[in-house]
Amino acid sequence: MSNLIAPSILAADFANLQRDIEMVNNSEADWFHIDIMDGVFVPNISFGMPVLKAITKHATKPIDVHLMIVNPDQYIETFAELGANILTVHYEACNHLHRTVQAIKAAGMKAGVALNPHTPVAVLEDIITDLDLVCIMSVNPGFGGQSFIENTYKKVQQLKHLIEFTASSCQIEIDGGVTDLNANELIEAGANVLVAGSYVFRSEDPTGTISSLKNLIG
Ligand code: DX5
Ligand code: ZN
Repeated sequence: MSNLIAPSILAADFANLQRDIEMVNNSEADWFHIDIMDGVFVPNISFGMPVLKAITKHATKPIDVHLMIVNPDQYIETFAELGANILTVHYEACNHLHRTVQAIKAAGMKAGVALNPHTPVAVLEDIITDLDLVCIMSVNPGFGGQSFIENTYKKVQQLKHLIEFTASSCQIEIDGGVTDLNANELIEAGANVLVAGSYVFRSEDPTGTISSLKNLIG
């Protein structure tokens, strides 16, 4: 599996969104990571469907949508219509995760599940072979620009073991506080998709930052 970079649009300049989307289009980035927050599951509200629609109109790379919302089931079809390629729901937001995952796939998208920092990897034992992606949150969801939680490495190793043990084809994504200081170690632990928000968009040269992160993780 190749190692991928997914810039998080949450850290883009929303007044220059098309410019920032074009930057990602023309960079070595692999996916667009889009954070949808409802102010209920997480203590912040990001943006919703109209903004996602505007993004997918211009984006030329796969759209990785990270839902930080309660009751995601009611919006699965809508996100498929808006152009999401991968739809990730939170384990902590789903009472019937198996049903939700099947609905995401039935809508034609890849299915991801995100785990909050306090949620152990073991809760995915009975669903791992149904998943296309697990997103390990390396910060508490809700905000960009937070510090990376070191316990993440251990969780990545545990998840990697679970994936190998079950012969799942699931990808491991890391979200929050990713920089050049932890990227390598995350890949060595078994991750293969790194989300990076502020590290990319707050740098002097976002295109160059994406390129150097990509080179770093091979
Ligand atoms: C946090 C979001 C992240 C965020 C990452 O709730 O899920 O995707 O944008 O931002 P950085 O890379 O700045 O931690
Ligand atoms: Zn995210």
